[in-house]
Amino acid sequence: MRMMAGSRSACEPARYADAMTTLVIGGAGYIGSHVVRLLLEKGERVVVIDDLSTGFRERTTGAELVELDVTRPDAAEKLAFQMKASGANAVIHFAAHKQVGESVAKPEMYWHDNVAGLAHVLEACATAGVRDVVFSSSAAVYGMPDVDLVTEDLTPQPINPYGATKYVGEWMLADAERAHDLRTVALRYFNVAGAGWPELADTLVMNLVPIVLDALEQGKTPIVFGNDYNTPDGTCIRDYVHVLDLADAHIAALEYLRGEERPHRVFNVGTGTGSSVLEVIEAIGRALGQEITPTIGERRPGDPARLICSTDRIRETLGWSSTKTLDDIVRSAVEARRAAQ
Ligand code: WQD
Repeated sequence: MRMMAGSRSACEPARYADAMTTLVIGGAGYIGSHVVRLLLEKGERVVVIDDLSTGFRERTTGAELVELDVTRPDAAEKLAFQMKASGANAVIHFAAHKQVGESVAKPEMYWHDNVAGLAHVLEACATAGVRDVVFSSSAAVYGMPDVDLVTEDLTPQPINPYGATKYVGEWMLADAERAHDLRTVALRYFNVAGAGWPELADTLVMNLVPIVLDALEQGKTPIVFGNDYNTPDGTCIRDYVHVLDLADAHIAALEYLRGEERPHRVFNVGTGTGSSVLEVIEAIGRALGQEITPTIGERRPGDPARLICSTDRIRETLGWSSTKTLDDIVRSAVEARRAAQ
């Protein structure tokens, strides 16, 4: 049964009876909305909590939408009300600021909103008796590790407030798990891109793939931030993962929390393979059917030469592996932009 999307105030209870219900906080956002859609396709019921500051109501079709800013002082009480009223069995928490450059310029906003928001969510889970929590963390917790493959055992050394708030969030999860017998997982996303459905594409032009597509649409030349790194073609290497694969990792994490054996609480989510900036731009050229000759610009401060994750733990423990290639990622991003025109 598909619930008609409806927007209610945070004081009205979501209207669900007895089936499995997941509360997706930030479910009107780019990644969150992909998870919402997968959960709905699985027949689960979904309550989206979102303040619509960067997300879109239209992305939550099929779910119940409760408009609420989780950073508000009274958010824990309102969240607990929704968890109890909807009979939520689990929470997935996405809602946070996530722009590295912005975090450097506005650290207080990141520290307050990202940390207080999560604190309210965890407090509500304890109050409402919701045990299962999946937290959106980030590869940004690692900072600039000088290793070929990043494993979860590496000690995080975030180099910007954004990454620091995600690492602190993982500590908060661990503390709440001990204090309230929660079952928690933090997923450290590597570089997410692409679109599972065109209408759920990332509308923020903040990362390499959308930046290059946006530049080309405006008749501008993409800029490569440095080509003198110690990599095969001199440009930075990252681990690009399709947003649909990433969304599926959240479903696997929920199932893991419902199981008996839970040896780990933190998982990298990536492909285990790296692509350089030039390789990504070449893939975009293939998807567009055009030759792209970028400008080589200066290095961007804070960029590690290489950030590729080991996927051993998530594969061995959750049975999850990525399925889509860089070309799949880029093609889906191109198709989404064409559909939006
Ligand atoms: C990728 C590469 C740039 C634009 C991000 C964020 C954060 C985190 C991980 C979730 C870098 C280069 C970019 C351009 C370029 N995700 N580049 N020209 O910095 O790896 O990390 O993803 O938490 O969102 O930290 O992603 O897309 O900004 O850059 O050369 O116009 O592309 O230097 O090497 P990044 P990015």
